[in-house]
Amino acid sequence: MRRSGLLVHEILTKMAQLAVEGITTFELELVAEKMMRDAGAKPAFKGYFSPAAGNRYPYVLCTSVNEEIVHGMPSPKRELKKGDIVSIDTGVQLDGYFGDSAVTVAIGEITPVLSKLMEVTKQSLELAIDKVRPGNRLFDICETVQKYVESNGFTIVREFVGHGIGTQLHEEPQIPNYVDRRGENPRLKEGMVLAIEPMVNVGKPASRVLADKWTAVTVDGSASAHFEHCVAVTADGPWVLTRP
Ligand code: MF3
Ligand code: CO
Repeated sequence: MRRSGLLVHEILTKMAQLAVEGITTFELELVAEKMMRDAGAKPAFKGYFSPAAGNRYPYVLCTSVNEEIVHGMPSPKRELKKGDIVSIDTGVQLDGYFGDSAVTVAIGEITPVLSKLMEVTKQSLELAIDKVRPGNRLFDICETVQKYVESNGFTIVREFVGHGIGTQLHEEPQIPNYVDRRGENPRLKEGMVLAIEPMVNVGKPASRVLADKWTAVTVDGSASAHFEHCVAVTADGPWVLTRP
């Protein structure tokens, strides 16, 4: 999992460098797919079957621009513009083990609100990572993200969540970015790996899925940011597998 995590990190670092005004999200897709193949890895998303969508996801990246929350599809028609923010999310499988991570990148100069949205979302993930310790519980993670995001005036998407990860892309438990008392609250144990991925909106929390069956957008059209890391529970504390 460390090897797949580092490959995902390498790909996202390249994506963040390439994501400038004028590039299309499909150009990013092509570079990412080549990097995976060259490393002998399989894309985790391309071919992934979603019962909700009723079909297989066709790309190695999710590229979600502005009011798109997650699962935006790369397109040769989607040129990134100054002032956009784009979440780039990718996953790989190497020797049977998965890695999954996402970053949100600014294209040129962005408004102060968007810049705060990105900062708060990223920081909510960092604070949650610090809770990934044996003996803590899942809700410690959920509560940390929720409190930080809401106290900064932003809202949390409910319909999409983080997840356990290992020999499958999505394993138990589901990891909401808010405390959902209907859900399980397992104690964290050494050896578990959690993909934590806050999705945060400027406006209302409600989301809907476009006619393409994948792209999730905010109902009110406000911008959304997304960051994700895979974090292992170790006796020494959190080990972020998707960065050096
Ligand atoms: N990071 C997202 C997730 O873990 C992206 C999945 S896209 C999919 O759910 F195509 F694989 F579904
Ligand atoms: Co994920």
